[in-house]
Order: sequence, then structure tokens, then C-alpha cells
Amino acid sequence: MAVSERLICAAQDLVDGGSGVRFEVCLYGRNEPAFAIRFAGKVRAYLNRCAHVPTELDWVEGQFFDGDRRWLICATHGALYDPLDGHCVGGPCRGSGLRPLTVSEREGMVYLQEADAGHAR
Ligand code: FES
Repeated sequence: MAVSERLICAAQDLVDGGSGVRFEVCLYGRNEPAFAIRFAGKVRAYLNRCAHVPTELDWVEGQFFDGDRRWLICATHGALYDPLDGHCVGGPCRGSGLRPLTVSEREGMVYLQEADAGHAR
């Protein structure tokens, strides 16, 4: 399968521990919400779907980090996720995690690998 890339945002749009950038991916014929964040200098992206109940994490659009900007947090019941790998570290989703998407950063831009995620929108 060929791998293609889709532009998600400019690298400068993702501040370490700051607001995320929302986008959509097409998985199995359905558009699904997703987001990208930066933590410890690294860009990561996940489906915007809590592992506890399949709802979006952010009540305030783009706000995925907790107050300490250490963990990703689900606004519904407070599940905490490791920003670097999406594993749940606390709350009702313990033992599961967010679904990661493959992204890359180069020349000041962030790209989604479409073979991993279908078509982004
Ligand atoms: S829906 Fe996310 S913690 Fe319950």
C-alpha cells in the first residue's frame, strides 16, 4: 500500500503543552475527529475518542492537556493519557489508550501519514 501525506498544520501552530489542532480522518468509510499536539518537543496525533466512552476529549475546542500540561485529559470523566504514546495512566480507561495516528514534522509543517489513517479532511 502506498503511503501518502496530508498537511495538518504549520509546526508553529503546536506549542509544547499547548492547544491541539483538530482535524478529521476517514476510517472505514466514516469521518472521525482527530487531533495533534506537541509534548516534550515531539508532535503526536490521536483519534479524538476517549477509551472509556467513545466521546471527544475536549469540551473546549483544542484543549487536550490537564492544568499542569503534563497529561492529556478527557473532559467527561477525567481520564488521563500519556501525551507521547496515548496510554491511559489514570481514570476509568486505565489499561487502554488513545488510538495513535502517524505524523511527521519537517520544514516547518506537520503531516499525517494517510496509509495509516485513511483520508484526512
Ligand atoms: S468518557 Fe472519557 S473518561 Fe469517561
